[in-house]
Amino acid sequence: MYNKEQTQHLQKESISLLSHIDKPLANKDIETLRNVLRFHEYRYYVMNDPILSDGEYDKLYKKLEHAEAADPSIITPDSPTQRVAKGLIKDFPKVQHLVPMLSLDNSYNAEDLVDFDRRARELSGLKEIEYCVEPKFDGASISLIYENDALSRGATRGDGVVGDDITTNIRQIRSVPLYARFSDYGIQQIEIRGEVLMNKNHFKAYNDALEEEGLPRLANPRNAAAGSLRIKDPKEVSRRNLEAFLYHVSDVTLLPGKTAPEILQTHSGALEMLWNLGFRSPEKEKEVLKGIDAVIAWCTAFEKQRDDLPYEIDGMVIKANHLEAQEAMGMTTHHPRWAIAYKFKARQATSKLRAVEFQVGRTGAITPVAKIEPVNVGGVTVGSISVHNEDYIKEKDLQVGDTILIERSGDVIPQIVKSFPELRTGGETTIVFPTHCPVCGYPLEKPADEAVWRCNNSNACSAQIVERIIHFNSKDAMDIRGLGDAIVRKFYTQDLLKDIPGIYHLPFDEIKKLEGFGEKSVTNLIAAIEKSKTQPLHRLIYALGIRYIGETTAKVLANAVNNLYDFKDYSLEQLQELEDIGPKVAGSVYQFFHNEQNIQLLHQLETIGLQLKNEKKELHTVGNLSGQAFLFTGTLHKLKRSEAEEMVEQNGGKIVSGVSSKLNYLVVGEDAGSKLEKAKKIATIKVISENEFLKMIEG
Ligand code: IVH
Repeated sequence: MYNKEQTQHLQKESISLLSHIDKPLANKDIETLRNVLRFHEYRYYVMNDPILSDGEYDKLYKKLEHAEAADPSIITPDSPTQRVAKGLIKDFPKVQHLVPMLSLDNSYNAEDLVDFDRRARELSGLKEIEYCVEPKFDGASISLIYENDALSRGATRGDGVVGDDITTNIRQIRSVPLYARFSDYGIQQIEIRGEVLMNKNHFKAYNDALEEEGLPRLANPRNAAAGSLRIKDPKEVSRRNLEAFLYHVSDVTLLPGKTAPEILQTHSGALEMLWNLGFRSPEKEKEVLKGIDAVIAWCTAFEKQRDDLPYEIDGMVIKANHLEAQEAMGMTTHHPRWAIAYKFKARQATSKLRAVEFQVGRTGAITPVAKIEPVNVGGVTVGSISVHNEDYIKEKDLQVGDTILIERSGDVIPQIVKSFPELRTGGETTIVFPTHCPVCGYPLEKPADEAVWRCNNSNACSAQIVERIIHFNSKDAMDIRGLGDAIVRKFYTQDLLKDIPGIYHLPFDEIKKLEGFGEKSVTNLIAAIEKSKTQPLHRLIYALGIRYIGETTAKVLANAVNNLYDFKDYSLEQLQELEDIGPKVAGSVYQFFHNEQNIQLLHQLETIGLQLKNEKKELHTVGNLSGQAFLFTGTLHKLKRSEAEEMVEQNGGKIVSGVSSKLNYLVVGEDAGSKLEKAKKIATIKVISENEFLKMIEG
């Protein structure tokens, strides 16, 4: 899409615009700014390889927004600011697809694929078929129409013939170009199909946010993507960070006098054309192979990489590559005969719901947890699953004794997909919610607008105190290794640790006398506690366990102030002016900083020596590791994994989740395994040691 020269030019323009960010823009610079923004959206959303920090992108975006607000007559429909719609969508009108959106036939093993290939060869009369193999993306399918190079319609699959017009929501997906030069290929109108996804990181963050609000987690990213496309507030759709892969051209109308472009003679050519035009097509993920044996080998190998991908796939799709062969094979009313899905092993399993226990969380929320007959789901044994709240239990129609279907996908936390009421034998019992806290006996309350029952005895309920201490120490919070769940509980019951400040006054002489606490583990624990005092402010904010404050919001809050106490003077309105902070979150922060006990806690932590000041370290791509992707594998000796990752980000680099051509550096510690083997096969990846990494940081 962008060659080296264009890339360098646009990056130069970006730097130049950033250096004049406070000066007014000349009219001719506005289109440059738009091009620069489109370019960075492409790098970020399509290539997954940004070369500007989020903060810098935001500055440029805001600049364009201001310029357009000052003179709305200069706004063009394809301006990057025009993705975000104002107001709410009333209805999704029904629209007919130009070509029915068929489904795919499924296969589950090599024999099925051999059968498919035999039928395909018979139908086409070919001796050997060339296939294009690509991932089967696990999301919600969409169809897009571009007319005269502009995105004119986006629709859901619906029943395959008629779907919902979701154009406004599709425009919020930043990897979908609003404008693409199909005319360069002689095309006047085109219908393309693809899949909208929520990647694993965003899915986890979204689920964590749901949980913070006491709402049930979603079972899989597919439900998250499908649900997001039907939201009536496009701004909310934009916040969901959806992505789209486009993988099929279903209909083409040529410009007058033009002949069909050569590139569309093959499916792999169609993917290439889409990629060239700025779409995220599976251009890099696809493989063209001759004969079914090569296809089977490829699919088997790809399944092993499944967990390393940033998004969820549930199989592979095998398509005859040549359009001529496709036409010869034809289709049924349900699926094309020239393509088949190869489904991976399901991450679903059935089990029995044996009992429900009620746990008290750090905010007093009562969570029912289903104890199930242990079952292996995608390689992990699952014995208990959160069933969230009363409404969820009703919605899923759960009873003790039921047979249930569970799934573990995208997000590693397993969920119940459904129960099977038809298999009930009469011995099942309904799940009864307690009226009093199962730990401290305090009467439970449920505000009318919430789904969760709570114990509001927060300062005296031992379960809540213990959970707050555990959260404070946890990996993403203050990261105090050696003070995990079981140890906190033990210390609490033995009166060695009663509250958060108590972590910093632990009676080590007594702890040394406990079974399992040698000199070494105590020394390590002391060091970990000491180290936590230097954790940055955003970690402390997250560690405080303020309701609705996840890691992302904690960062927003930390960046807003010089000192944590500043929040005492923030009004509700001021809090809501911060990025992505709505009334509910603002209310919770406001309450926290207007509660005397909490302020006392902060004073105690400050006296102990914790960081309440913000060092305002903004991420910058101009660091030593600017734009480079890192992954750590094996045991590191000098750094903790989380420390090393933080160092990468602070120096302008980024962390990726798996070994692929997008990775620049694999940092190997002791006992590095399959990631190292994989990386050795990709020439562009540099394999370096922990020491070499540290040298890079020093510059
Ligand atoms: S091709 C006429 N390619 O899987 C060919 N479909 O189970 C149409 N899907 O309805 C589909 N990844 O929503 C195709 N790389 C891929 C796909 C893919 C996911 C979905 C698609 C389809 C469903 C069938």
